[in-house]
Formats: sequence, structure tokens, C-alpha cells
Amino acid sequence: MNAIAINGSPRKKWNTAILLEQALDGAASNRAKTELIHLYDLDFKGCTSCFACKMKDGKSYGKCAMNDGLTPLLERLAGVDAIILGSPIYFGTVTGEIRSFMERFLFQSSVYTNPPSTLISRKIPTAFIYTMNVSEEIARQYQYPLHLDMNNNCLARHFGSCETLCCYETLQFEDYSKVASEYFDPKQREERRRTIFPEDCRKAFELGARLVSSPDTHKI
Ligand SMILES: Cc1cc2nc3c(=O)[nH]c(=O)nc-3n(C[C@H](O)[C@H](O)[C@H](O)COP(=O)(O)O)c2cc1C
Repeated sequence: MNAIAINGSPRKKWNTAILLEQALDGAASNRAKTELIHLYDLDFKGCTSCFACKMKDGKSYGKCAMNDGLTPLLERLAGVDAIILGSPIYFGTVTGEIRSFMERFLFQSSVYTNPPSTLISRKIPTAFIYTMNVSEEIARQYQYPLHLDMNNNCLARHFGSCETLCCYETLQFEDYSKVASEYFDPKQREERRRTIFPEDCRKAFELGARLVSSPDTHKI
């Protein structure tokens, strides 16, 4: 059994990456082989609307025909047992990189039947971990859940299920005193990092453990 986590943050050691590592540790605690992929290491673009994956009897039907730094990852994801995506919130939604990844990953197997369907025939438990500056209350005020639910629905439609974990009011800067940022109370952020973030890490660990022991794992 193997689980892959995909980091949609440019930072390899900060909030999103830490939570993804925790989720993978959880998966490993249930004997999964795990791997963390940093999307920003890959040289790729989003879907270019070539539609090769939709051509009847085409050689790329159901498969992204673009050939770039994402291609090997898309191929490997075809055989994975659990997938965990992670992204910081940038301007109210996920980062451009993870969005581009999702376009390529999901469009290739989307079918324009009525209602729309997917070519993926097996269930693969998925999860999406989000990190953000705002509090849960402000996230709701600014309609963040609309975007996040859309991701959740897309993943659930393709793979059968998707769990969401949100981590609010993250520590964004190592040293707030060096940054022009009146918006934040550095003490509150640091306190939250000490007290709430470990709880978020625990939730991420449990999420990872749960995903690979889901009854859907391995189901064809
Ligand atoms: C370009 C940019 C835009 C951001 N926009 C938002 C935003 O709209 N809402 C929010 O809550 N946080 C926003 N943030 C903060 C990040 O979401 C937050 O610090 C996150 O935890 C960073 O994840 P990381 O530590 O894994 O890189 C933004 C950060 C950057 C760099």
C-alpha cells in the first residue's frame, strides 16, 4: 500500500509541508509506503485544452498528452492507494501550482457524459489539507469554504471520497519583527503555533492513518 502527499506550497519546511509530513507519518504507522512531492520542484503547466485526452479512439484517450515535469507524477498516481493534497490559501483559494496540477490530474479522466462521470474505476481515499492566515470565522465570512468544498467535491467525484483539514492562523513568518505586517499579533501567532498547531499536526497524523486503513483502499 502506498500513499503520496503533494505539497502545493513553495515552502518545503513550513506549515503545509509539516502537516503533510504528519499525514504521511500517520499513513506509515499503518504500514503504508509514503512519499512527499513538492510541486514547486516540478516544471509544468496547467491544462492547455488540447483535448487529446477526450478524442474518441485517440492514443491519449483518458491520459494527459502533455509531456513535461508533471508527466511522471501523473503516471505514478495511477497506481497509488491514497492521495493527500496540501495547499496554503493564496488570495482566498489554493495556489496556482496546485490548481494547475488539479487541472491536469482530474481533467484527463473526466468524461462529458450527462451527468459527468470519470474513467477512474477504483476508489482511492483522498484528502486536502489547507493552511491559511485567517481565523475560521474570517474564512467563513470571506466564503473560503465555497472554494474548498468545490475541490472536495471534484476529488470525491473522481475517487470516491475526500476529507478536508483546515489549519487556521498559521505562523507565516519566522520573525514577525522584520516584516511590515500590522495585521498580525506576533505573540498570538507564536502562542497558537505552540498550542494549536500541534493539535492540527495530530489531526493530520490521524487523517493519514485513517486514509490508508479506509475500507475503500484497494477496492476495484
Ligand atoms: C501570495 C500569498 C497570498 C496569501 N493569501 C492569503 C489569503 O488570501 N488568505 C489567508 O488566510 N492567507 C493568505 N496567505 C497566507 C498563507 O496562506 C499562510 O501563511 C499559509 O499557512 C502558508 O503556507 P506555508 O507555510 O505552507 O507556505 C497568503 C500568502 C501568500 C504568500
